[in-house]
Amino acid sequence: MRVFAIVALACLGVATVNAQVRTAFPEKRGLKPTDFPRTIELADNIYGYEDLRNPGFTTVSLFVVGADGVLIADGQGSPDATRRMLGEIAKVTAKPIKWYIVGSDHGDHTAGNSVLPKDITKAALVDIMKNFCFTMDQRCSYCHVATDDLSSADFPSDEKETKKKARELLRLILASKKDVEASKQK
Ligand code: HEC
Repeated sequence: MRVFAIVALACLGVATVNAQVRTAFPEKRGLKPTDFPRTIELADNIYGYEDLRNPGFTTVSLFVVGADGVLIADGQGSPDATRRMLGEIAKVTAKPIKWYIVGSDHGDHTAGNSVLPKDITKAALVDIMKNFCFTMDQRCSYCHVATDDLSSADFPSDEKETKKKARELLRLILASKKDVEASKQK
């Protein structure tokens, strides 16, 4: 009986979601331009953020307030719009922006990236990179397209096989770290 009730409720949930108009045009959802920007709590600590942009439809971002920082999934379409979003996030939490996920790489979600905090994960990244060098007794140029003295470097380039291999290693380390933390919490 209980199972049946849950299934029935789940179907009801799906029906409600389907009934909602899915569109970037606010007027089709009964919203006015003055309703934006708007932040909606979707679940505990998870928020949808939506702002209006030319010529009148919306750009949606998501943010999650974690234990020690905020994760943003998808930015907004201009430095001003992203700055406005950071201002709205600050109304919800004083925690720093720590992570940024590019879900859509189109301009309407990335053109404001330049105003995101520069140090999102830089401290952590440099630590990991130095550890790589130390452990492997190599320079940055072992994995990165860079001169030995780093006077010229293209860190994001994935040209070197060593970097790709190191990324796999990094993923493995991070995944096993997560497993260890999860088992500690049990
Ligand atoms: C053993 C290989 C290895 C060495 C040595 C290494 N890196 Fe990296 N580095 C990587 C990998 C792999 C990534 C990408 C990580 C990812 O995809 O999450 C990366 C990413 C970066 C990035 C960000 C750009 C990007 O690709 O996302 C910077 C900046 C960077 N490294 C700087 C350095 C510096 C400075 C040093 C020297 C102190 C260094 N790295 C040494 C493997 C290396």
